[in-house]
Amino acid sequence: MNTLLETKDLRIEFPAGDGKWAEALCGVDLSLDPGEVLGIVGESGSGKSIAMMALLQLLPKGARVTGSARFKGKELIGMAPSRIRQLRGKSIGCVFQDPLSAFNSVLRIGDQIAEAITLHDRSISKRAALKEAERLFELVAIPQPAKRVSQYPHEFSGGMRQRAMIAMALANRPELLIADEPTTALDVTVQAQILDLLRDLRKDLGIGLVLITHDLGVVAGLADKIAVMYGGRIVERGTTDDVFYHTAHPYTAGLIGAVPSLDGDGPLQQIDGTPPSIFNRPAGCSFHPRCSYTQPACQAGVPSLMNTGHTDCACHFPLVKPRAEVAE
Ligand SMILES: Nc1ncnc2c1ncn2[C@@H]1O[C@H](COP(=O)(O)OP(=O)(O)O)[C@@H](O)[C@H]1O
Ligand SMILES: [Mg+2]
Repeated sequence: MNTLLETKDLRIEFPAGDGKWAEALCGVDLSLDPGEVLGIVGESGSGKSIAMMALLQLLPKGARVTGSARFKGKELIGMAPSRIRQLRGKSIGCVFQDPLSAFNSVLRIGDQIAEAITLHDRSISKRAALKEAERLFELVAIPQPAKRVSQYPHEFSGGMRQRAMIAMALANRPELLIADEPTTALDVTVQAQILDLLRDLRKDLGIGLVLITHDLGVVAGLADKIAVMYGGRIVERGTTDDVFYHTAHPYTAGLIGAVPSLDGDGPLQQIDGTPPSIFNRPAGCSFHPRCSYTQPACQAGVPSLMNTGHTDCACHFPLVKPRAEVAE
């Protein structure tokens, strides 16, 4: 089976003034097979969004991207903008945190979805595209789809708008869906409904899903595998079970501590301190100033990913002993 998405040593730099560059993504290796769900998890500023924006050439002008990102074997980095536009919204669908800004507020939602369809397939009539928008609304469980397609974005609740956004992302039957914090703006009940929807879609349509979130709890029941990011690097990755039950990185352990327990008992544990700025990254392991296991050696060098027999973990003193270096 061909890999759906594979990044190798993906790096992103932003201009830092005086001709200098600041590295925001420091060599990220990810892979996703067709139909798989990859959760990318980490606090705000860890590089989750820019990594995905780099694939789709959505970064602001001036950003420098190096390394490789292949979609079904095709290199995306440096791909001609016209070809990337073909992929975007067709083979690769995107869902973002704020669907209100993704829709044009003065156009009916159905028309916007229909336009997304006819943009990529000129042979489809407007009428047929509107019918397809209705079918998509049904697919994402929006009640009264025939009525809803002729409404405007402000007539939708937050949860319904997110469903409509997902319908739009699915309009051209993508093979890969990138969902960046799709539930962050929603209340807990609606959040659970959207996650259920993504789970069903993955099962029914067999699409690959990259689910970006700062909340490990969100990916726990949905992702096959997880990449934990900190300061522009992957610090731990593995199957969801291994990341939860054979946690090797103190940062991952901290994030798991921050997941409310199901019975609702006990206070939430916090990771003290704040994530580093790309312009002023701590020496060595950039998590060391916040890590309760830190030792002097942590400041000496950036740890590389080592395999523990369960997860790949980048830590000088992992909670599970490493066995082998990870071949890149
Ligand atoms: N246009 C930009 N110029 C400079 N730095 C940026 C720009 N966009 C993002 N960054 C930096 O890149 C880092 C990663 O950002 P982002 O991917 O948005 O984080 P996340 O999605 O994990 O919260 C952040 O530290 C942010 O400050
Ligand atoms: Mg983000």
